[in-house]
Amino acid sequence: MTNRAPDVLVSRRQALTGALAVAGGALGPAAARAETPKPSLNALAQAKGMRFGSAIAAGASDARRMGGSIDNPPYADVVASECGLIVPENEMKMQALRPGPDTFDFHRADRLMAFAAQKGLAVRGHNLLWVPTKWLPAWLNQYDFGSRPASTAETLLVTHVKTVCGHFGERLGSWDVINEAIDPATGKIRETVLTRHLGDRVIDIAFHAAREALPKCQLVYNDYMEWERGNETHRAGVLKLLERLRHDGVPVDALGLQSHIGGDSELVGQAGAPDPKAWRRFLEQATGLGLDLLVTEFDINDRSLPADPAVRDARAAAYVREYLDLTLSFPQVQDVLAWGMVDRFSWLNDRTPRADGLPKRPCPYDADYRPKPLRDAIAAALAGAPPRTAPHPPHA
Ligand code: G3I
Repeated sequence: MTNRAPDVLVSRRQALTGALAVAGGALGPAAARAETPKPSLNALAQAKGMRFGSAIAAGASDARRMGGSIDNPPYADVVASECGLIVPENEMKMQALRPGPDTFDFHRADRLMAFAAQKGLAVRGHNLLWVPTKWLPAWLNQYDFGSRPASTAETLLVTHVKTVCGHFGERLGSWDVINEAIDPATGKIRETVLTRHLGDRVIDIAFHAAREALPKCQLVYNDYMEWERGNETHRAGVLKLLERLRHDGVPVDALGLQSHIGGDSELVGQAGAPDPKAWRRFLEQATGLGLDLLVTEFDINDRSLPADPAVRDARAAAYVREYLDLTLSFPQVQDVLAWGMVDRFSWLNDRTPRADGLPKRPCPYDADYRPKPLRDAIAAALAGAPPRTAPHPPHA
């Protein structure tokens, strides 16, 4: 398989918006982009009762982030033409929405909501509590919880969940309520300033508060236990948590499979070759608990693949196809979201660089907004997936 030549059909509007993007920011040489292949990824997903979506940003002060945002017309155009839903890459995280214990700032998230409304895209929320200490706001990590620390911590958390859920209301049909609670090294709940005072109840409290605020919303536990070897402890820890939540009547509706596949990344540790058998078993166990599934943050880390783009893209596409064919064989997966659509703006370029220093190619579109073999692999997996017989959950 070779890297595909760009389609030559470029509309005047795209040429203009591309030129504006270059003039308006340091986004590199890309100007116009190729037409989106038909049918779009979302149309292919819809034909099977699913939706396809992507992360997108609301713009930022650094040029690379700006590139993957609604402020970059060619990028926004790729997202709007390929997707049926979006998820904010950073704008709904506590760090972004809550600059201090008594203040909320929704303006960037609201820009994304306005973009979605204008383009007719659904939005899912990410996330109400990103558990690891590293991702909590600095003010929270340093907070003085006073003489009744458990009660203070619970109030802080419930206030956050209810204020944020209340702000967006039913415009969001699905929320990542808890993100990454399990320590991949131990399989246990990560210790943080909140668990110090509330223990594992942190998770229960967040889910219950979300259900109270949004009774019809799909409430998701989201994590990065992947299909590669090396994730055994992580997968076991996530299952144990989900079993406990279901047993205790905690309102979790679905498991978010982040799907940052390819291994060898900071996130998946020293993961090795894929283990499809173990992955199937994991998905059977999760769905056996009555949970729905979502692919929430799909991309591939091609750090270890050969430099030649054609070889690299072919290997990545084959890997992705195998992963998605297996994962989408579970009819409980109804949403598939990429963590960004264009290579140049992927978060993976900030982490674990390739030894040869070449940019990574983790997304469906290349740096010049041209669809890649990876896009073909996603399209083929969506087209080959069994139709979903159950309707999309009412909460979505
Ligand atoms: O916008 C500021 C900019 O003003 C500042 O100059 C610059 C200096 O570092 O930082 C910029 O903020 C960065 C932000 O992305 C926007 O670019 C943060 O440092 C950086 O930490 C942040 O990274 C995000 C990361 O989550 C942490 O929030 C990535 O974009 C985002 O892709 C990543 O997404 C996570 C999911 O939420 C959860 N699952 C894993 C996934 C990948 O790490």
